[in-house]
Amino acid sequence: MAIFTLNGKSVFIDVEPETPLLWVLREQLGLTGTKYGCGIGACGACTVLFEGQAMRSCSLPVVAAEGRKIETIESLQKNGQLSQLQKAWIDHQVPQCGYCQSGMIVAATALLRNNSKPTDDEINASISNICRCGTFQEVRAAIRSVIGAGKS
Ligand code: FES
Repeated sequence: MAIFTLNGKSVFIDVEPETPLLWVLREQLGLTGTKYGCGIGACGACTVLFEGQAMRSCSLPVVAAEGRKIETIESLQKNGQLSQLQKAWIDHQVPQCGYCQSGMIVAATALLRNNSKPTDDEINASISNICRCGTFQEVRAAIRSVIGAGKS
């Protein structure tokens, strides 16, 4: 059982406390933008914002979210408008298969909220998500394009 804030709304969920947050998001709450990749905290496909920080939700028991603020990829667009970062992802045609990209965008959102002008080294250090298509150059290009261009 847990109560937390999800994408600006309070949610109550009645599951075993050790249930991974990822399962709760996808199966109980129907938010399937957050993806399952490895289930062991390695790939980053399941990345959400936990109090504004990038967090792998497959490795986070839902009880850890109690009273906390969680944001998913679904929250990044506002009033039908994609975030600048999401638009940059389209402009730079970042995705190939696309499976890991929501986690990438969420991780990049966290980076830019905490560091409005990251260097390439800082981007590389903070975006530890795995992309089997190898879109890392495009990910960096999209992030660089919004640096200094306002909120992500
Ligand atoms: Fe969570 Fe891979 S599914 S890190």
